[in-house]
Amino acid sequence: MTRGPLLDAWFAARKKNRRPLQIPGHKNRYAHGEDALGADLLGPLLRDDVPLQGGVDDNAYSHRYLEQAEACWSSAVGADYARFLVGGSSQGNIAALSAVSHPGQPVAIDRTSHRSAQAALVISGARPVWVYPELHPETGLPLGVPARALADVTSGVTALFVTSPSYVGTLSDISALARAAHGRGIPLVVDQAWGAHLCFMGGRGAIACGADLAVTSVHKALLGYTQTAVVTMRGDRVNRDHLDRCVDLVATTSPSGTLLASIDATRVVLERDHGSAISRTVLNVQRMRETLRRVKGLVVLDESMTPAGMDPFKLTLWLPHTGADGVAIGKRLWEMGLNLESADRDTLVCSVTLVDEAAFCDEAAAMLASLIEAGRGRPRAAATSTVWRVEPDVACTPREAFFARRRRIPLEQAVGEVSAEQFCPYPPGVPIIAPGERITRDALEILRKSAGQVRIAYCSDPSLATVEVVDALQ
Ligand SMILES: Cc1ncc(COP(=O)(O)O)c(C=O)c1O
Repeated sequence: MTRGPLLDAWFAARKKNRRPLQIPGHKNRYAHGEDALGADLLGPLLRDDVPLQGGVDDNAYSHRYLEQAEACWSSAVGADYARFLVGGSSQGNIAALSAVSHPGQPVAIDRTSHRSAQAALVISGARPVWVYPELHPETGLPLGVPARALADVTSGVTALFVTSPSYVGTLSDISALARAAHGRGIPLVVDQAWGAHLCFMGGRGAIACGADLAVTSVHKALLGYTQTAVVTMRGDRVNRDHLDRCVDLVATTSPSGTLLASIDATRVVLERDHGSAISRTVLNVQRMRETLRRVKGLVVLDESMTPAGMDPFKLTLWLPHTGADGVAIGKRLWEMGLNLESADRDTLVCSVTLVDEAAFCDEAAAMLASLIEAGRGRPRAAATSTVWRVEPDVACTPREAFFARRRRIPLEQAVGEVSAEQFCPYPPGVPIIAPGERITRDALEILRKSAGQVRIAYCSDPSLATVEVVDALQ
């Protein structure tokens, strides 16, 4: 037994090898190498697929393994309540932001939030009042949302929603933001998709720092199955029943027991390890930063540049003074099987985790250094992604625009029209144009530039020839 209630139940279910007259449709026939239909193709994919219902637990969830595992996570990270998710932090953001907003009412939200926060605004009907991170004066990268940002918000917002760590690894001062939010009697919600490890680093997680809700991917910085995430809650500023309703609103009724058990297993592994792997990873990233600081002109993001600190698992490099082209470096590394989290012309973002050994990290840092040297050119002016400083002209709420009657027009002719859709360079997944925002000439220019470097996601015409705009509000 491992002290992981869901994990133990998963192993037990696996051993039992039920032959169900219910879901899953594959009837567990691929689990033990049986010669069932399609086993050659489906076997490797579905071998370990065990549903929660009628698999890890019975149909009535009588053993409550999931609730037990959620309680273990919750107490491990100092929260009062946790819900495991199989729809990623996207599901978590939609649920958490919906839980603290109301149709037509203002909510203070970081404009550099992930697109899933915008989806929550469509679902809840809340009116965004945008707040912004400070930007680093030289690199233009976001440095976290300062607490004073809330002071500039004059309307009676129902909550504050920020992202920390940011995609490039910079942190917001969550304690200060929590004090500011609580001083106004509103909850603080933190999209901590990239910061799961912080929850296991002695009080550095958003909940430990005072957030009321935190949404955390387990598959990004920790070791969970792809799609896994957790939403955690502390205190009573958020209604727990309503949070449950919002989580369930956007949840599947057939969750994968395997995915959920991987969250439980991740916690068990971390508790069993007593912080050793986390400390090793922090050191590995520090050494990578040291190696790369020796590359002339390369800016390596670290605590000295960031008022509220830096994610210790993120390596973010800023290239303009080296003249090297980040897109070319990213492509070269992809060919070598060494993919980066993101690579645009100016910025490379690398995500390092607990399973990256010291030797691998050192080799990766050396490889990055040598590719930057090989690509060295004349220092150039920065063209850091503008998604960090989009200041939209808002015409109506995201929900109104999303459900409006639409018409499709050429993008070139769309200046001044209200977008009914999102244009979202991915990564980092922050929209340049979102539903309800007027399309500006600047935004089109930014889109054109970004399109050459990254995928523009979630727009209905990926060729960017046309756009759906609001024809009439319903
Ligand atoms: C800041 C942020 N929040 C939320 C998400 C969504 O996370 P998930 O992929 O787990 O749905 C992402 C994904 O990249 C992200 O960068």
